[in-house]
Amino acid sequence: MSKVLVTFAPVMKYHSEIRRRRSFAIISHPDAGKTTLTEKLLLFGGAIQTAGAVKSNKIKKHATSDFMEIERQRGISVATSVMTFEFQGILINLLDTPGHKDFAEDTYRTLTAVDSVILVIDSVNGVEEQTRRLMEVCRMRDTPVIVFINKMDRDGKGRFDLIEEVERELSIQLHPMTWPINSGKDFKGVYNLHDKNIRLFTANTKADDDDVLQLQDLTDPVLDQKLGDRDAAVLREDVELVDGVHGELNVDQYLAGKVAPVFFGSAVNNFGVKEMLDTFIRIAPTPRSRETTKRLVNVEEDKFSGFIFKIHANLDPKHRDRIAFLRVCSGKFERNKYFKHVRLQKDVRFSNPYSFLARSKDVIEEAYPGDVVGLFDTGNFKIGDTLTEGESFYFTGIPSFSPEIFKEVVNKDPMKTKQLEKGLLQLTDEGVAQLFTQFGGNKKIIGCVGELQFEVIQYRLLHEYGASVDFKAQPYYKACWITSESEQKLQDFTRFKSANIAEDKDGHLVYLAQSEWFLNTERTNNPDIEFHFTSEIHKAE
Ligand code: G4P
Repeated sequence: MSKVLVTFAPVMKYHSEIRRRRSFAIISHPDAGKTTLTEKLLLFGGAIQTAGAVKSNKIKKHATSDFMEIERQRGISVATSVMTFEFQGILINLLDTPGHKDFAEDTYRTLTAVDSVILVIDSVNGVEEQTRRLMEVCRMRDTPVIVFINKMDRDGKGRFDLIEEVERELSIQLHPMTWPINSGKDFKGVYNLHDKNIRLFTANTKADDDDVLQLQDLTDPVLDQKLGDRDAAVLREDVELVDGVHGELNVDQYLAGKVAPVFFGSAVNNFGVKEMLDTFIRIAPTPRSRETTKRLVNVEEDKFSGFIFKIHANLDPKHRDRIAFLRVCSGKFERNKYFKHVRLQKDVRFSNPYSFLARSKDVIEEAYPGDVVGLFDTGNFKIGDTLTEGESFYFTGIPSFSPEIFKEVVNKDPMKTKQLEKGLLQLTDEGVAQLFTQFGGNKKIIGCVGELQFEVIQYRLLHEYGASVDFKAQPYYKACWITSESEQKLQDFTRFKSANIAEDKDGHLVYLAQSEWFLNTERTNNPDIEFHFTSEIHKAE
């Protein structure tokens, strides 16, 4: 008798919760319109009722040395760190990223906690410095990207030039989803290449479907009536060209991070935003499976796992608590349930975990993959820490980037050496800065992305740890982590260049380069040494 093989499909307990979640971030160069777009998305989601409710969280340029401004900024950015809202039955987690470039590393780390991003580009300025860097991080992770070309109501660059510039500068293929009809004061609206209709531009649209002009095809004479003969003819020509080149969007290519759908609009006028949101809901990835140091963690697994991607300290010395941001990667997070803190090898539980629904801090009972949970922390967490239901592994792909400004820490009060050391360790655990120790010596060097962080560190060391420090500028421009296949070669290089060698907090060797010229020279002279500009917090075994 032949055996009958019965197979059971694995029960995916949380499938429906996972399917209805989308976690993403909006990234842009400052002033491109991220805050404005965020606000419009929240209005659609009903998370806020009035315009102007989302405060810009950027520190204005003139305020870089105003400490109160930093504090105010941090307060706002905790409140808006994660904005959760519902749209057409989909639960959207929008993770905020700091606008100021000095906090860029915070942004890079937030990008490790999202499944996709929306990139805002100012049509007048095109691709700017921070856009380039942020996209590099997205590309490292093959993060799917949707592009929103903003400020079409201003006289910007030509539409084809913009597409070409973005493709060239960001090395990503774009796929137009809407197409603009003029720009600046002649901006008449956008043609939806997918739905084959036109939305005529009016300032502050409510985006009702009534505003949409449905066309049979582009030969429809109503086009000439509404746009005028010249603009109708240009649109017909443009669309023929665009359709010929791009055809239908290949969603798999988008999900693989190879093709980015692009929309044109004006965030401040709430124009073109709804089209983008509709597409986002349709194609943006649900929470994905993630690599760890041991194995791939399937997002559908029953057992809980998650990692800390950001730690936010309370600057008020009366409240020394911190908030650790946990991204749930699999299973169900539950309040008061014991989970394993892998690095400390101990069980921990949380009685007041909170979510960010509708921007108020609500204690939550449970959370699912894609969600972000705020955990009160008294110093037990550092960036990259993993919580599980018992297994030991770390999530990979959480990078540290080379800092760009280096300063030696000068202890002004030797009586407080212990406090200083504790403070430096804790602040660097939070990811405020990176700490390097001179090779074979004691010199402590702090590396940051921006000047502002040194102010934050100095203030916090004094107010939270009672340690008074000064900083002495160091003539370095980059820190490169060094490795080699040959242990001997690495030792030789380290000994020979000891003045430029330091160890990071995890004991990894770092070469501190004075300039690009020095770095290139060392690279050429030492082909057996590899120089890395990023370091993985956790590497696969
Ligand atoms: P950011 O978060 O990316 O830094 O940018 P934000 O939204 O704060 O926008 C920067 C400026 O650009 C704001 O003006 C905002 O009103 C304006 N803006 C945003 N979208 C559009 C658009 O589609 N068209 C035009 N013309 N302007 C737009 P501001 O003067 O700096 O601030 P505010 O006083 O208007 O708040």
